[in-house]
Amino acid sequence: MRITKLLFAAVLAGTAFGAQAAAQDPIEARKAVFKEYKKVFGEQMGAVIKGKQPYDKAAFAKLASDMDALAKKPWEHFPAGSDKGKTNSRAEIWTKPAEFKKAIDQHQAETAKLVQVAQTGDLAQIKPQFGAVQKTCKSCHDQFKKED
Ligand code: HEC
Repeated sequence: MRITKLLFAAVLAGTAFGAQAAAQDPIEARKAVFKEYKKVFGEQMGAVIKGKQPYDKAAFAKLASDMDALAKKPWEHFPAGSDKGKTNSRAEIWTKPAEFKKAIDQHQAETAKLVQVAQTGDLAQIKPQFGAVQKTCKSCHDQFKKED
């Protein structure tokens, strides 16, 4: 019993330490947000857009707001000097900050529009707006992300 408790405490401490270490590494932090992007946008919303998952207005609207919230998150994790290490970020992020900012602004404008359009419940309007957001992913990746 005592040993179990000790082990449990050790596991908890280990987890907390791991999470803290990740939070302090900006490369890990931004990758973690982009992994959420992939889940929410690529997988969950993507399945509805491709017709693999039935369209549910409320559920999709929730995903659209989750995506819009996520679109605010990666950018604080690009401090100067974080172009070295296990990262696919290109140096242009730091040498062309105005262009990077523009790509972020376009991306956020389209995710905000997706939230609006999701309220219509009309897939005929939602699909092209999903595509518009997707274009902002690709456009930024083309300019600022290396191939895996
Ligand atoms: C304004 C620029 C920008 C936009 C917009 C953007 N990304 Fe990225 N994305 C990046 C950069 C830069 C990286 C590389 C991060 C690194 O390795 O440091 C990246 C990495 C990723 C990764 C890989 C994460 C990993 O595990 O290494 C995924 C997945 C991803 N983005 C998905 C998306 C999706 C989906 C969208 C659109 C909904 C999107 N991104 C929009 C810049 C952007």
